[in-house]
Amino acid sequence: MKKRGIKKVVLMILSGLAVLLILTLVVLFASSGIMKQPLYLQPWERTYSEQFDDPRIRLAAHGLLAANGHNMQPWKIRLDTKDSRVFYLYADSDRLAKQVDPYARQTMISQGTFLEYVQVAGGELGYKTVLELFPDGNYDEQNLIEDMSIKPVAKVTLMKTSPQHSPLYSFIFSPDTNRGPYENTPFTEEQLSQLASINNEDDLTLKIYQDKENMEKLGNYAIKGAIIESSIHRINEESAAIFRANEYQKNKYRYGFSLEGQGTSGVMKHIMQGLITILPSINSEKTTADIFVKSTQTAINHTPAYSMIITKGNTRIEQVKSGMLYSRLVLNAHRLGFVMQPPSQVLEEYPEMKEQYSNIHRGYTNAGSTIQMFFRLGKPTQAFPQTMRRDVMDLMDTEY
Ligand SMILES: Cc1cc2nc3c(=O)[nH]c(=O)nc-3n(C[C@H](O)[C@H](O)[C@H](O)COP(=O)(O)O)c2cc1C
Repeated sequence: MKKRGIKKVVLMILSGLAVLLILTLVVLFASSGIMKQPLYLQPWERTYSEQFDDPRIRLAAHGLLAANGHNMQPWKIRLDTKDSRVFYLYADSDRLAKQVDPYARQTMISQGTFLEYVQVAGGELGYKTVLELFPDGNYDEQNLIEDMSIKPVAKVTLMKTSPQHSPLYSFIFSPDTNRGPYENTPFTEEQLSQLASINNEDDLTLKIYQDKENMEKLGNYAIKGAIIESSIHRINEESAAIFRANEYQKNKYRYGFSLEGQGTSGVMKHIMQGLITILPSINSEKTTADIFVKSTQTAINHTPAYSMIITKGNTRIEQVKSGMLYSRLVLNAHRLGFVMQPPSQVLEEYPEMKEQYSNIHRGYTNAGSTIQMFFRLGKPTQAFPQTMRRDVMDLMDTEY
């Protein structure tokens, strides 16, 4: 009789706990927005661009899937009203990350990543894309912000040809960046030469390192960069301002950072999003900084190779071309089964990073040259989800 009573109490406690757990999960999932359609992922659908009749918009819909600094998607498109084959790409000066990218260098690289995706998609859809960079001349650097709205980064002319299937095309729809651990297996000579041959620009240098000494040195730059950057309040504020905690925010903004970028998906993503939404304090500046440094260290410990794109100078055209090469590498790397991630901190031009910036440049370039991209390269141990993208019609500049 007594035993049965205890059993009953235990059962009651257990069912109470189960109800509590279910209620907690319901609240977490509702706060995360689990029932919301992820509109911010629609541009990744292979049929997304087909809803547009204008081939210029179709191609721009592919361009916006490219990697870009801080996921700001700093692109504006003006369709030529007189020539239906032509559109202009402008850097969107409302989408700068001024603290981490004070000279808008990464913003210009992100113009190049976009243009390369446009070119690859163009071939597939039956358009040769003729690019003219800065057709109205270079920016006046003293009036950079105003000039961004006046001077296009590129004039893109579509010349109708027969569609040519590109083995790179389908990789446009894969997530661009993988911040997870990679297998530590070194690249074979053949793989290295395959990757090196992707650079067909004389004025760009592509370097790949996998020897012990350089791996150690470059890993040190990556971790030092992460430690320095995560200790700077104004930079943390800039990143926090574009962090989207749940599905409601991701659908509203469709740019910036989210948990997908940290490799979190599925049920775990919704539990985390729910927690951060209900208790924003768990995502405090200190916690975020600690997680960033720790995940950078894990990434470094699981990186078989680093790579760099180096330019002779640091012109806007060189920056754009570096972005084009970066996208070309992303697509080719994915085709070969590899992934990439740029731990860019050490290349950023704010005062606190000056010493590390100078050291890495002194160690790896000739005087006057610039490392435009520094990135990890390897075989992934974990798939990463796609991240937010805006609707292509949001890129259209109607003021023209
Ligand atoms: C110029 C440039 C700089 C970047 N810097 C970093 C970086 O420092 N750390 C990082 O993890 N990803 C970096 N990225 C990757 C972007 O954060 C990423 O492309 C963006 O968030 C969109 O995500 P996705 O590439 O997975 O689509 C950079 C990309 C570009 C083009």
